Amino acid sequence: MTSRLVSPSAASIAVPPPLAQPALSLVGSGEPRRVVIVDDEPRLRQVLVRLMTRDGFECVEVADGHAAVAAMTDQPAPLLLSDLRMPGMDGVELLRQVRERWPDTAVVMITAVADVEVAVGCLALGAMDYLTKPFHLEEVRARVRQALEKRQLVVENRTYQRQLEVRVAEQARRLETLFLASMQSLADALEVKDPYTRGHSVRVSRYAAAIGRTLGVDAPVLAQLELGGHLHDIGKIGVREQVLNKPGPLSDEEYAHIMTHPEIGWRLLSPLLAEAPMALNVVRSHHERFDGSGMPDGLVGDAIPLEARIAAVADSFDAMTSQRPYRSGLTMEAARAELQRCAGTQYDPLIVSAFDRAVQTGAIALA
Ligand SMILES: [Fe+2]
Repeated sequence: MTSRLVSPSAASIAVPPPLAQPALSLVGSGEPRRVVIVDDEPRLRQVLVRLMTRDGFECVEVADGHAAVAAMTDQPAPLLLSDLRMPGMDGVELLRQVRERWPDTAVVMITAVADVEVAVGCLALGAMDYLTKPFHLEEVRARVRQALEKRQLVVENRTYQRQLEVRVAEQARRLETLFLASMQSLADALEVKDPYTRGHSVRVSRYAAAIGRTLGVDAPVLAQLELGGHLHDIGKIGVREQVLNKPGPLSDEEYAHIMTHPEIGWRLLSPLLAEAPMALNVVRSHHERFDGSGMPDGLVGDAIPLEARIAAVADSFDAMTSQRPYRSGLTMEAARAELQRCAGTQYDPLIVSAFDRAVQTGAIALA
C-alpha cells in the first residue's frame, strides 16, 4: 500500500484500510469513540471524516471554532482535529478553550506550511501535535495514534495521581485515628491512677476550645488546643499516688512534687507530638501565671503561649467547679468571680474576658 498526499484539491482519493492496531483502541472503554473535525474547507473535512470513520470513530464535522465548541459542549470528544486559519474563531482560540474546558481532549492542529511557527506555538498551548498540509493519510493516522497515546498516558497518570492521593489521605486518617487512640490510652491510664480527676481532661479540652472559638482562633490551632487540653495533666502519671490522691492540704515538698507534672508530661509527649507544638505548649505551660510566678519556666504575660493561657483558665475553672470528696465545687458565679479576681496576676485578663463571653453565649455551661 502506498501512502497518498492529500490536499484540499485532491480530496476524493481512496482511504487506506485500517491499521492492525487502530488509534480507536487508545480511547478509554467508557468514553465516546468520537472525533470533532474542524476545518472551513469541506473537501478536506470529507477526507478526514472518511479516514477516521474507517478507523471506527464517530465523526462530527464543523466549519469553525464556535461550532466546534458547541459540538464539544453537546458531547465532549477525546480527540479534536482542527485547522489553524478559519473565519470566526480560529484554531488557536479554539485550542485555548478546549484546553481550559476539556483538558483530557487530545488536540491535533492542521496547518499550512506558512503557519508552521504558529502551529509549533500551539504545542506550547497544549496541542498534542500538528499536521502540515498537504499531508499523507498514513501520516494523519500515525499522528492521531501518537496523540491518543500521549493523551492516554496523561489521563492514566492523572488517575494514578488521584488514586495515590486518596490512598495517602486514607493512610493519614488511619494514622491519626491510631495516634488519637494511643493518646486516649494515656489519658485513661492517668484516670485509673487518679480517679478524682475523671472527666477533668475532657472538660478542660471542651472549655479551652470554647474560649478559643470565642477568640476566633482558626481550626488547626483549635484542634491542638483540644488535644493539649485532653493531655495537659498526663505528667501526673509520674506523680506518687499517695500525693496525687491526698485529700487534705499538701506539704511544700508534696506540692513541689505534684508540680513536676507539666515538665514530665512535656518530656513524655515531646517525641509523640512533634507535629503539634501548641498541644505540647499546653502540657508544659498550663501552670504558668500571667505575673511570672508560675511553673515550670516562670514565663511572664505574652511570653506564655496563648494556648497555655487559655488552658490555664479552662483548667482552673473546672478544678474550682468540680466536686471533690473533701470539698464541694464552686457555683458558676463564684468561679467566674474568682477568675476575675485573679485576672492580671494568675490569668491573662483577655482570656478571662473571652471566658466570660463564652459563658454569656452559653458556649460554656456547667453540666
Ligand atoms: Fe495540671
